[in-house]
Amino acid sequence: MMLSSLVVVYVMFMCFHFSLGDNYVLDDKSGLGRTFDGIGGLSGGGATSRLLVNYAEPYRSQILDYLFKPNFGASLHILKVEIGGDAQTTDGTEPSHMHYENDENYFRGYEWWLMREAKKRNPNITLIGLPWAFPGWVGHGKNWPYDFPDITAYYVVSWVIGAKQYHNLDIDYIGIWNERNFDGKYIKLLRYTLDKYGLDKVKIIASDNLWEPITFYVLQDGELSDAVDVLGAHYPGTTTVIDALKTEKKLWSSEDYSTFNDEVGGGCWARILNQNYVNGRMTATISWNLVASYYESLPFGRDGLMTAEEPWSGNYVVESPIWITAHTTQFTQPGWTYLQTVGHLKNGGSYVALTDRNGNLTVVIETMTHDHSVCIRPPLLPFEVTPQNVTFYLKGSFASVSQLQLWKSRFDFKTKKPVFFQKLDPVKISDGSFTLSLDVDEVYTLSTITTAQRGAHPDPPPSAPFPKLYKDDFNVRNPQFTEAPDFADQTGVFEYFINLTDPGPHVFTLRQVVTQRPITWVTDADQTISVIGDYSWQNITVTCDVFIETAKTGGVFIAARVDKGGGNVRNSKGIFFWVFADGTYKVTSDIKGETVLVKGKSGPSSDIWYTLSLTIKGDSTSGMLNGSPLWKSGMVSVPKNGWAAVGTSSFELAQFDNFSIEAE
Ligand SMILES: *[C@@H]1O[C@H](CO)[C@@H](O)[C@H](O)[C@H]1NC(C)=O
Ligand SMILES: *[C@@H]1O[C@H](CO)[C@@H](O)[C@H](O)[C@H]1NC(C)=O
Ligand SMILES: *[C@@H]1O[C@H](CO)[C@@H](O)[C@H](O)[C@H]1NC(C)=O
Ligand SMILES: *[C@@H]1O[C@H](CO)[C@@H](O)[C@H](O)[C@H]1NC(C)=O
Ligand SMILES: *[C@@H]1O[C@H](CO)[C@@H](O)[C@H](O)[C@H]1NC(C)=O
Ligand SMILES: *[C@@H]1O[C@H](CO)[C@@H](O)[C@H](O)[C@H]1NC(C)=O
Repeated sequence: MMLSSLVVVYVMFMCFHFSLGDNYVLDDKSGLGRTFDGIGGLSGGGATSRLLVNYAEPYRSQILDYLFKPNFGASLHILKVEIGGDAQTTDGTEPSHMHYENDENYFRGYEWWLMREAKKRNPNITLIGLPWAFPGWVGHGKNWPYDFPDITAYYVVSWVIGAKQYHNLDIDYIGIWNERNFDGKYIKLLRYTLDKYGLDKVKIIASDNLWEPITFYVLQDGELSDAVDVLGAHYPGTTTVIDALKTEKKLWSSEDYSTFNDEVGGGCWARILNQNYVNGRMTATISWNLVASYYESLPFGRDGLMTAEEPWSGNYVVESPIWITAHTTQFTQPGWTYLQTVGHLKNGGSYVALTDRNGNLTVVIETMTHDHSVCIRPPLLPFEVTPQNVTFYLKGSFASVSQLQLWKSRFDFKTKKPVFFQKLDPVKISDGSFTLSLDVDEVYTLSTITTAQRGAHPDPPPSAPFPKLYKDDFNVRNPQFTEAPDFADQTGVFEYFINLTDPGPHVFTLRQVVTQRPITWVTDADQTISVIGDYSWQNITVTCDVFIETAKTGGVFIAARVDKGGGNVRNSKGIFFWVFADGTYKVTSDIKGETVLVKGKSGPSSDIWYTLSLTIKGDSTSGMLNGSPLWKSGMVSVPKNGWAAVGTSSFELAQFDNFSIEAE
């Protein structure tokens, strides 16, 4: 009896569908869903904004507008940054606020500046800090941050205090150790230390890895549960686990995307922004990374919401993920609430609805097909999406809404004429419903919010390669930044240095300052290195004045055709021209200094400036010391091309000056 009447209802339902399309209800009568916490971008993890700071105005401000300005572009709700730890964290190193135990400086690197610029544009933006690596002293030399948890907690809390004291930045959330082990005792101590310094408003995210095992421990341990405010998972593939829901904590995709920012990348972003809530009840999604501002040949080139990797030309590209972000961010704010009526569309795709609980309604619909929305990870199981007509019925608080603003994006893979974030005529609501005809690979926003805009700056200058003639004597510096333009540190940290006692020509120099192997995130090289220039360079002369500071054991190099950075920096090949404080020199085809092409005595020592010059032309290479030829060699198993570089033979102080490049 029951069954047969259900069948009748089902058949009627099907017929109804067949004629009019599929029906969906948007209603708040039976309660609401979770509170929305925002969409964000991640600068760092590592050094992903390195080249952004070297853009000239007005381009740099324009890029920042596309990222942060409300009602303009991505209009991000969240900015997450790396707490620099002096170690390699994917595309470079970021400097720590405490290189040494008795050292504190809250003006290093560019994350402080970036947070200030974001706040300037959107005072409400949520700020998050997370360490990837730590200076070596934090672990007393061991590659582990939890043996002295009070030191680690103090180190992290100092960063939060410095943000307020020197930049008037209130950090909202702090994390544990990116994608590495957590330690319950440390998390509780971090909570205790924050509270002790009056930072009880700063919340803790754990553990920026997988849902488990943190969820397991939070369920077991009441004190740990009290310390943790948000469960943050990385690359969750839009799903969560039952136990995470059981904790009743906020669930975030605290790092996601990481996909090349072409249209498939935009499609990935569109799909996960909706489905992280629909499938996994995640209320924030943060893109790694914010802006692709690092040399594209480093790992994960162009995996940002937009591309700004040419400070020398001023060229940047506002990629599709910026406009996909706008579909949500410009029509909602953190603190809005998801409706319970969210879900999948019958012919593929998904919809979410959010409200400010004050009568405003925003609906975001995506119909991304499988092949046009694959993210870098995890693997995406097959699914079907086909064109469909959908009717949405507005009920509860929304029954009296009379029209909705309509914005549309269409990824057009056939004609290659996509349309992003286009304002269409508002949709009139008649009889409490509206109908849309959805094609595949589309994104729609329908909203009572009327303030959205597709912001635009004049086109930036055209793209151009890195200049073939390049010089830096480190005398002209931007006081806002501690690093020289375009140098991308891959192990160690290279900072501007002023020698106040030097009456000679080397008062202003570039100095490598990391003197102890950090608590690493990947396997940094045993040498320090900063790369610069164009990865395609083959024939080149690199010249630099060098100053070894460590007597007897110190050493420095200049290099060309350096072929690897990021997590592969240990295995870099190229031509490396080294001089040592013991009076020797050598030329090797690897950063490890193992494959020797030439070696000999040259006479250098510490505390004296020398000029090194390295030339590569076709199959041969040669070097000069203080302007005189020193060696000449053929080249065996040397990469065909790569960056120029400077570096040191260990974690030691050393200086560089009058750097110049002549590339062919
Ligand atoms: C910041 O938030 C407040 C309170 O929600 C709001 O009134 C204000 O308009 C917001 N400012 C911006 C720039 O979004
Ligand atoms: C929507 O939000 C605006 C402010 O953004 C507010 O003025 C308005 O009253 C809200 N409600 C409706 C139904 O539009
Ligand atoms: C959607 O409705 C229109 C008529 O309004 C019809 O022509 C079209 O075939 C329908 N599309 C689908 C996929 O059912
Ligand atoms: C600073 O310059 C003086 C004088 O040239 C030199 O003796 C000293 O080693 C330099 N100090 C550093 C840290 O470079
Ligand atoms: C090196 O730079 C100094 C200024 O820092 C300058 O006086 C000197 O001429 C430069 N030397 C060379 C060889 O370019
Ligand atoms: C480098 O020099 C060699 C030998 O002169 C030449 O064959 C090659 O084309 C040059 N490469 C570039 C990129 O100019």
